[in-house]
Amino acid sequence: MTPDAPLCDAPHSGAPDPGAAEIPAAGLRSAEPAAVIEIRDLYKSYGQLDVLRGVSIAARRGQVVSLIGSSGSGKSTLLRCCNLLEDSQAGEVLFEGEAVKWRGEGPARRPADRAQVTRIRTNLAMVFQQFNLWSHMTVLQNVMEAPVTVLGRARADVEAAARRYLDKVGIGDKAEAWPAQLSGGQQQRAAIARALCMEPRALLFDEPTSALDPELQQEVVRVIKDLAAERRTMMLVTHDMKLAADLSDHVVFLHQGRIEEQGPPDQLFGNPKTDRLRQFLRAGTAA
Ligand SMILES: Nc1ncnc2c1ncn2[C@@H]1O[C@H](COP(=O)(O)OP(=O)(O)OP(=O)(O)O)[C@@H](O)[C@H]1O
Ligand SMILES: [Mg+2]
Repeated sequence: MTPDAPLCDAPHSGAPDPGAAEIPAAGLRSAEPAAVIEIRDLYKSYGQLDVLRGVSIAARRGQVVSLIGSSGSGKSTLLRCCNLLEDSQAGEVLFEGEAVKWRGEGPARRPADRAQVTRIRTNLAMVFQQFNLWSHMTVLQNVMEAPVTVLGRARADVEAAARRYLDKVGIGDKAEAWPAQLSGGQQQRAAIARALCMEPRALLFDEPTSALDPELQQEVVRVIKDLAAERRTMMLVTHDMKLAADLSDHVVFLHQGRIEEQGPPDQLFGNPKTDRLRQFLRAGTAA
């Protein structure tokens, strides 16, 4: 009944990403920044269906990591495992170096510490393909909801921040509108403002532009590019290869629940090494 409203983290400065100034420019990373979110050798199945089969991936502070791969390869599942919206059966999930505590094993494995789950989930704000705004709340109320109710932050402070983020994504004038009165691109930008208002340590995007017409996609792409320019930590599932190529520090190609190939975008898109990736990229070009 409730949409998968992203949760938010403990309030901090509101600055884009703490420590961002210390982040070396992409490609100059001699000492790599710490991972905000990392999974190691993760296995996930739905019943008999093995969806993730030993995947390791990390989004380091200030990095944009894109996940690409054909439909059903496990991209959304991987993103959802990162913020513990899905259980996994083996492997590790680490948030800022802190490993998730588990109880039980295999299919019975569950997170052991609810407070830890909440802490992690509230620090990884998710933006979905279908926006998932509350239809009975104005745009401003949507953006304010979780910081007030989940984090218990002061309403006046949250409202000021919410208006700032709505301005940032270019829809400050829509604060009092209802979601149904917005275009798809505006709704997605409201969803991004809602995620930002939680001051998360990282943003997880699951095909944020897929539900939009090309023209509206560009509005959202511009906002995501601005966020990347601020060196926010992001993990992005996308079918938009141009977006992945333009934004990413690192691209991961998933195939049938395994990482088939990964590397910097120039390498992955310019010089794919595996037949499967070549085939995937060709199919995308032909589409
Ligand atoms: N809740 C679920 N129950 C059972 N099977 C599921 C569930 N969610 C996903 N799956 C299956 O897991 C596999 C991976 O799904 P997932 O949604 O992660 O793929 P994806 O790479 O995100 O695909 P797409 O590009 O179409 O979004 C698919 O075979 C899918 O049918
Ligand atoms: Mg998906």
